[in-house]
Amino acid sequence: MTAGSQTAPLLEVRDLQAYYGHIHALKGVSFKVEKGEIVTLIGGNGAGKTTTLATISRLLTSSTGDILFEGRSITGLEPHDVVNAGIAHVPEGRRIFSGLTILENLEMGAFALSDKAEIARRLEHGFTLFPRLKERVKQLGGTLSGGEQQMLAVARALMQNPRILLLDEPSMGLSPLFVERIFEIIEAINREGTTVLLVEQNAHMALGIAHRAYVLKNGEIAMEGDARHLLSDDAIREAYLGEG
Ligand SMILES: Nc1ncnc2c1ncn2[C@@H]1O[C@H](COP(=O)(O)OP(=O)(O)OP(=O)(O)O)[C@@H](O)[C@H]1O
Ligand SMILES: [Mg+2]
Repeated sequence: MTAGSQTAPLLEVRDLQAYYGHIHALKGVSFKVEKGEIVTLIGGNGAGKTTTLATISRLLTSSTGDILFEGRSITGLEPHDVVNAGIAHVPEGRRIFSGLTILENLEMGAFALSDKAEIARRLEHGFTLFPRLKERVKQLGGTLSGGEQQMLAVARALMQNPRILLLDEPSMGLSPLFVERIFEIIEAINREGTTVLLVEQNAHMALGIAHRAYVLKNGEIAMEGDARHLLSDDAIREAYLGEG
């Protein structure tokens, strides 16, 4: 590694364009996530948030532009190599294995790992963050509430011990109590040293915990800045966050 790459952002997206057939979903999206940050990508329905995360984790490959992780391009990688590089993605709608128990779901998250002691250590770490999961290790994923499933999805991603966690609308469909809880846990995960890229329609909550934010609108970055500044500026809230 060169000296230059040591100062590179942890994740950098440059001029990302993505397509679904003729639909031009991302029209030149650029942003950076520095090591240790919580960066939120907010925006309404169809803005391109999910597309951005899926392009980073290479689940979607009909794209152009550059994605750099620790200064190196990952655009040519397969999804499992992106995971191995240290990028964990909790997709929209959670996608836990409903026919597997909590424990089995978590073990699936560490599929690339053979070191049993390390797997046990990561499980314990997950249970510290999510005591509720520990109480129910033998329960089938499909029988959990929406909030519990979201917690399981995040805990499963953490089994990879990622450098960065990509979260796609973790608060979607959750009761207010679970929304509060999941945002507290995201902050706790970040305090432990994991960088977070948080996609949310719930702009208010996301800006409350993020360091910096980008507002995505119709596949383009419409605004960027310090999260607290965006949260406190009424004009910005009206124009971009639909809170007028
Ligand atoms: N599988 C698909 N096929 C065709 N078009 C799609 C597909 N997925 C998304 N799109 C389109 O791409 C654009 C961006 O969608 P995307 O799902 O990334 O938005 P989003 O910001 O995640 O929205 P939401 O908040 O509703 O999840 C939208 O115009 C959407 O209709
Ligand atoms: Mg989405």
